[in-house]
Amino acid sequence: MTAKPTLILGIESSCDETSAAVVADGRHVLSNIVASQDDLHAKFRGVVPEIASRAHLERINLIIDEALAAANVTLNDIDAVAAVNRPGLIGSLLIGFTAGKTIAWAANKPLIAVNHLCAHAYAAMMPVDDRPLPAVALIVSGGHTSLVYFRTPTDFEKIGQTQDDAAGEAFDKVASVLDLAYPGGPIIDRLAKTGNPRAVDFPRTWFGRESLDFSFSGLKTAVLYHVRGNHLDRPDSSHLRESQKADIAASFQAAVIDVLVKKTVRACRAKNANTVLVGGGVAANSGLRAAMAETCEKEGLRCLLADRKLCTDNAAMVAGLAATMFVPGHIDSLDLDVTST
Ligand code: KG4
Ligand code: ZN
Repeated sequence: MTAKPTLILGIESSCDETSAAVVADGRHVLSNIVASQDDLHAKFRGVVPEIASRAHLERINLIIDEALAAANVTLNDIDAVAAVNRPGLIGSLLIGFTAGKTIAWAANKPLIAVNHLCAHAYAAMMPVDDRPLPAVALIVSGGHTSLVYFRTPTDFEKIGQTQDDAAGEAFDKVASVLDLAYPGGPIIDRLAKTGNPRAVDFPRTWFGRESLDFSFSGLKTAVLYHVRGNHLDRPDSSHLRESQKADIAASFQAAVIDVLVKKTVRACRAKNANTVLVGGGVAANSGLRAAMAETCEKEGLRCLLADRKLCTDNAAMVAGLAATMFVPGHIDSLDLDVTST
């Protein structure tokens, strides 16, 4: 007789995606429903926290019901409820975590509080059979650009982070300078494929030979000045030809990738780690995926990239990670709160 799989209901609402998922044994995604709020935040070209939390509140119950239905299970079949309680936007976190606590209490299931950063890193380990740890994780999204050393899926040390903008934020702002839609990352990714990455030599910030920190605000400003040239009265990029925009997108993306890849290798050397995990929205970038895989190969490092569908915020990575934390009898306290860091 085969053992019954451990089924975990995951809930994610740390930023602007409302998501619920059911995952079996930490690996098999039975459902992963993601309601994006991109349309609500597009005109502000960034996430507006108050709008995000209100939208989570409207959607969370429907999304959870949909995730259970799509997995063809009921709450009775679930072994534990996992919800993200940190880090993120407080108002957003509160909606998903409160929903998780309420369901756990009402259905008498254990609650597992999950760290969003650990979940992004876990997404990269999800498909492999072994536990590829210790490892250095590069977590790159709209809110984070961090190098994190993982000893276990939840025991980690942050060893580098951005001092200003996150990489995804830089993608979104550069897209705005080029008058492209929001979120800009996927659009720049596509446009960059048709441009020359060496057309413009945009600056890279290294902070010295040992540093594992990042900075993207100088790069973003360099793109702005390049687009406007000496005509600071020019409000937009309408004077540029499509091929010029593509060259700028490709050169900007190359500068971001250069720093991300080299600092990840630097972090592996510093921590004597042989495995690289890459997760977060920007990990979906085709240029970054190719460059990281190629460099790791040359450097003798194992490179695990989160599946593209599990790069941007989703609850499957939450339910997956929670399986590694699930010990029958252990229940996180319903008094637990959300925290922004
Ligand atoms: O992980 P995520 O969904 O949310 C946060 O936790 O922030 O990441 C969203 C970010 C956005 O900034 C978006 O532009 C970026 O990920 N992104 C990309 C790509 N797909 C999404 N950036 C570069 N290339 C992509 N293909
Ligand atoms: Zn995220």
